[in-house]
Amino acid sequence: MSLDQLPDDHYRPTYEDIHISIGQSARKIKDEFDPDLMVAIGGGGFYPARVLRTFLKKPSALDPNKLRNIPIQAIGLSLYEEVSGTSEGQIGNEVVRTQWLDAKTVSGHKGAAKLEEGKDAGGLLGKNVLIVDEVDDSRTTLQYAYSELLKDVKHAIANLSDDERAALPPTRFAIFVVHNKEKTGGKRGTLPILAADLPKGADKIVDGVSEGVRYYTTQDTGDVWISYPWEEEDIVEHNRLAALAKKLQVNQAK
Ligand code: G4P
Ligand code: MG
Repeated sequence: MSLDQLPDDHYRPTYEDIHISIGQSARKIKDEFDPDLMVAIGGGGFYPARVLRTFLKKPSALDPNKLRNIPIQAIGLSLYEEVSGTSEGQIGNEVVRTQWLDAKTVSGHKGAAKLEEGKDAGGLLGKNVLIVDEVDDSRTTLQYAYSELLKDVKHAIANLSDDERAALPPTRFAIFVVHNKEKTGGKRGTLPILAADLPKGADKIVDGVSEGVRYYTTQDTGDVWISYPWEEEDIVEHNRLAALAKKLQVNQAK
């Protein structure tokens, strides 16, 4: 759907629109990155991460005929919302951690490979980690999430024994957002985004970690306001307005 002529400057994707577009992006993500786990940024990233998981199942190591869901870890970051205990100066300027991964979730528990699959606590080390949020607006939140997770992973790798480090596969990061809002003045936050056509495995590994991130979105939008269905109290009205906007566009295109 073209976003040039929105009746009231609100873009209203429906649950179904979002589900379908996530499914389409999932194919590319699976081919190029094949995540082992996701880190969802709450609250906006939770619903997209859960839907995406449906399309990213992997064969079980215990029974290759079975497909299993990949784990979703959760972090809580808030940019615009007031959080108790923060000064006014922090609000809107800084990212506030409301929830983070503990050291064991980053490094994994010893003997985790023996735990039941899907319930294991294998950590982020040596994995393809997909960071998920609903919208990349100023990019501040994503810059923070990526750089802090990277720091935690590097710290955990430094704490391994030489043998453990030598046996560890590379840790890679990618980002998925449902919508990326393009900004005329550029984004406030920055990310070391890898070239979209970089072949699988062609990234540079430094000290066990891939340099840069693959970046995926279902849609680049302009600087419009996106009304997400999960934010609406009246979902019927949301769907009605979404259908109206689509109809209007079809008529204008005639
Ligand atoms: P960024 O500016 O650093 O990129 O951060 P982010 O994309 O996370 O945007 C900051 C907050 O503003 C987020 O809420 C995000 O959901 C919200 N936001 C930005 N643009 C839009 C938009 O077009 N529509 C809607 N509905 N929300 C938008 P948050 O603090 O992360 O809260 P939560 O909903 O994730 O709990
Ligand atoms: Mg959010």
